[in-house]
Amino acid sequence: MAVITVNDTLSADRALRLIDRGSTLVWDGDFQNAKQLLAALGRRLPAADAGSFHVRRRRQARRAQVLNSLLIATHDHTIHLRRAPDVRQACLEAYGPPDGERLVPLRELLGVIGAHQLRIEGVQVPALGARIHPHYGVFAPTRSEYVDLVGDRPLPRPAVAFDIGTGTGVLAAVLARRGVPKVVATDNSVQAVECARDNLRRLGLQGRVQVVETDLFPPGRADLVVCNPPWIPARPITLLDHAVYDEDGRMLRGFLGQVHDHLNPGGEVWLVLSDLAEHLGLRSRAELLDGFRSAGLRVTGRADAVPRHRRARDNEVTSLWQLCPSGGSPFVEGA
Ligand SMILES: C[S@@+](CC[C@H](N)C(=O)[O-])C[C@H]1O[C@@H](n2cnc3c(N)ncnc32)[C@H](O)[C@@H]1O
Repeated sequence: MAVITVNDTLSADRALRLIDRGSTLVWDGDFQNAKQLLAALGRRLPAADAGSFHVRRRRQARRAQVLNSLLIATHDHTIHLRRAPDVRQACLEAYGPPDGERLVPLRELLGVIGAHQLRIEGVQVPALGARIHPHYGVFAPTRSEYVDLVGDRPLPRPAVAFDIGTGTGVLAAVLARRGVPKVVATDNSVQAVECARDNLRRLGLQGRVQVVETDLFPPGRADLVVCNPPWIPARPITLLDHAVYDEDGRMLRGFLGQVHDHLNPGGEVWLVLSDLAEHLGLRSRAELLDGFRSAGLRVTGRADAVPRHRRARDNEVTSLWQLCPSGGSPFVEGA
């Protein structure tokens, strides 16, 4: 693979030809012109938001391969190019302490800058009446309808609740704010664990919510187990995809397979899941219900919400499935 140093004289057509021949381009010109070249390359590729799921995925992969081939050199998180922004704080948050030379795809760098802005501004979460500050690479609760499902559902009186796959910690915070005395939140992503701890500290809930880095469950049992797993059973492509794509439905299967062993008698499960996978033909409703049955769980209630975000499918529905062990009786609903 050839690594070629390029500058403002390079046209987008030529850049695309070089990339298609297997070259990686290291930019040595004006930073703002590099952004324009990236945008021009993007316009030359088929859009990834139309067509069947598999067509869109193929296009996303092609876009990622081409657009990630334009690199920017950073030295200790500083870009030494004309009209380059100061990215030191943004890179510190995404990559950790400065570590000398680094070649970063410009597309990724723009994502790092955007994530830094979002972390500063935060996302207003109506169910909390507060802002949540997502870190780089952590799923942001910009789709507030699923948080409302957890905020509005009549709450049993759990002494202990688990939030499995906590991300920014938003659902754990909602449970704590609703009066659950002890919440244990888990995630297998280091970034998510740090982010959740940060948000819970900002909200003054660090005494009520413990955040644990682990695969799925913490030790012990809970009266209420909440989980909003990645909802598309397909292979992740980018870092952020890991919060949305669940290859072979691994997390959902692992969750359903083990949750029974982490429930106290009379305990219940709140599983938040979009039906997008059903619309895409990746999982049928019958398979989902079968998964519940095989896990020894029965459905005791369901609340639906229609996603309001702009990329939602017209007929997509996000549901909170209320489940309890097939043999057990559900909580008496409280306040
Ligand atoms: C759709 S996001 C939900 C985040 C958060 N609960 C929310 O509702 O905004 C799914 C989360 O599950 C986490 N996750 C994926 N696989 C996991 C596993 N095996 N164990 C723990 N967490 C996992 C991801 O890192 C991600 O933070």
